[in-house]
Order: sequence, then C-alpha cells, then structure tokens
Amino acid sequence: MKVVITGSRGKVGRAAVGRFVEAGHDVLGVDLVRPVFDTGVDEPGRYVMGDLTDAGTAFSVVAGADVVVHVAAIPQPTANPAHVVFHTNLMSTFNLVEAAVRFGVPRFVNVSSESIVGNFFPERPFLPDYVPVDEEHPLHPQDPYALSKAFGEQLMDAAVRRSDLRAISIRPSTVHDDGNYEANLGPQVREADPESANFGSYVDADDLADALLLAAESDLPGHEVFYIAAADNAGGHDVAATLREHHGDRIELRELDRVDASGISTAKAARMLGWRAKRSWRDHLDTEGHALPKA
Ligand SMILES: NC(=O)c1ccc[n+]([C@@H]2O[C@H](COP(=O)([O-])OP(=O)(O)OC[C@H]3O[C@@H](n4cnc5c(N)ncnc54)[C@H](O)[C@@H]3O)[C@@H](O)[C@H]2O)c1
Repeated sequence: MKVVITGSRGKVGRAAVGRFVEAGHDVLGVDLVRPVFDTGVDEPGRYVMGDLTDAGTAFSVVAGADVVVHVAAIPQPTANPAHVVFHTNLMSTFNLVEAAVRFGVPRFVNVSSESIVGNFFPERPFLPDYVPVDEEHPLHPQDPYALSKAFGEQLMDAAVRRSDLRAISIRPSTVHDDGNYEANLGPQVREADPESANFGSYVDADDLADALLLAAESDLPGHEVFYIAAADNAGGHDVAATLREHHGDRIELRELDRVDASGISTAKAARMLGWRAKRSWRDHLDTEGHALPKA
C-alpha cells in the first residue's frame, strides 16, 4: 500500500516508518525537519518536508495514498504556548482528514493519546473513575494537548459519518525507545511505591509501531478507538497496592490480569486488532532502573 506517515522524524514516526517499510509498504514520510540529503539522517522510504497545518501541504502529500498514518503532533502541552499546541495538533489532523475524505482515501490511522482521559496535565485534580482505564472510560480533557486529541477523535467520527473513510484512533500510553528508557522510566522503576498519573503505564515504540501497522492493514469499519500499552507497569509494582496507598478507595479497582499490570487495559486491541505487547521495560533496564549492557 501507499502509506503516508506524518511526524516521520519523531520518536514514534521513526519506529513506524521502519516497521511499514519492513512490511513491504511504499512509505512517504512527512515532517517539519529538513530532508535526508541536508541532514544525513537515514530514513527509509520517501520523505517530504512540510508543515501539515498548511492545507496545501496536507492535500499534496495525501493525494494517491491508500492509508494515512497521522503521527505528527506537539506531544505535550508544556513546551509551547497553549494556542500553538492546540492549533498545530487540531489543524494538522483537520487538514489531513479533509484531504483523505476529498481524495477518497480508504483508511486513516489517527494517533491520539492516553491523556485524552484527563490525566497528566490537568489544571485541576483528576482521578480516573476506575483502573485499568479502558475505551469505555468517560473523557475529561482539560489541557490544550488532551483537548486537541479529543477533538481529533471527533474529526474521525465526522469523517466516517460523511464519507466511506474508515478510521482507527490509537491512544498510546507514554512511549519509550532505546534512547530514553533509562531517563524516563528509571526513577519510576527505582521507587518502591511510585505515584504516577497513569499507574506506571507505558509502551515500547516498536510495540506501538506494530499496532499502527495492524490498524493500517485492518478492515474494521467505522471509527474504532484502541488503547495501546505494555502488559506490565514500569517497575513491576503491585498496581492494586499502589492505588490503595495513594488513593484509598476513591478509584474503583477492576479485574487485573497480573499483579504488575498496566493501569490501562488493551483487551479491546487484542480482541479486535490482534495486537499484544511483546516488549517490556525489563528488556532495557535492570530492577534498579539502570540501562542493561548492550548485547
Ligand atoms: N511520546 C509519548 O509518550 C506519546 C504518548 C501518547 C501519544 N503520543 C502521540 O504520538 C505521536 C508522536 O509522538 P512522538 O513522541 O513521536 O513525538 P515527537 O515530538 O518525537 O514527534 C512528533 C513529530 O511531529 C512533527 N510535527 C509537529 N508538528 C508538525 C507539523 N505541523 N507538520 C509536520 N510535522 C510536524 C515533529 O517535527 C516531530 O518530528 C503524537 O501524536 C503524540 O501526541 C506520544
């Protein structure tokens, strides 16, 4: 298939491009950064430099595509002014969906976020109603990033309502790769009873790339939403004990399939996409949270 992958130079985009090229797809990457011949960055597949908040750029890259895998975004609300985060994320999604509908592209894979539920960046306190959080949990976004993802999912709903486009939104947990496991998850692994917005949930970038590939190749109708997270939590903590320690009985604890389970359920992705996490922080870190020696 001809696959457009946006945000192809970012953490998730790089993993996705590698996975799609390996699977034999014809990949066109799009990102804000300069092309390979300028930078020496080795990117498989073809590449176009462009700002997707510009409709012309979105239309020119989507023309002729079989699938759009929309990864590009500002991935948190803290490093840019609020309106820049909201505008960048919402308008890039709007322009790409608009182009996909107008060109009759059959499949759109939209990278959303676990923070859509309301955790991570709330201005006023937020707790989930229950753990593990799943796709049925109500959404209570407060910050511009989570709001942009919530509206992005609504754009998918509208697109399947008004056209033959089929859409899948993937809500990844925090994403980690070789380059940042130690810095990002090391402290959480070391702590005995860490307080965390998502109860230690995370996902490996390559596991997420597998989910994006399954979504792109899926025949599912309509717009489906899937959480994607590792099976365990960072540090292998007893999630029920951590939850009680920090929140008493203010959060309903639902069935867990293991003591060190993620705070996010990926049962729907297993059932409908055939996706299962294959990787863990344990492949990268020791139990003190330090990087394992390279094989
Ligand atoms: N990293 C995480 O923990 C995490 C968790 C949940 C969801 N996500 C989502 O996953 C996706 C990828 O995140 P990431 O961690 O790879 O972030 P990243 O910052 O590493 O990559 C994002 C890429 O998008 C590009 N981009 C931003 N604005 C653009 C624009 N207007 N036009 C074209 N390209 C643009 C950036 O240049 C960058 O290369 C995002 O949608 C993010 O919201 C990330």
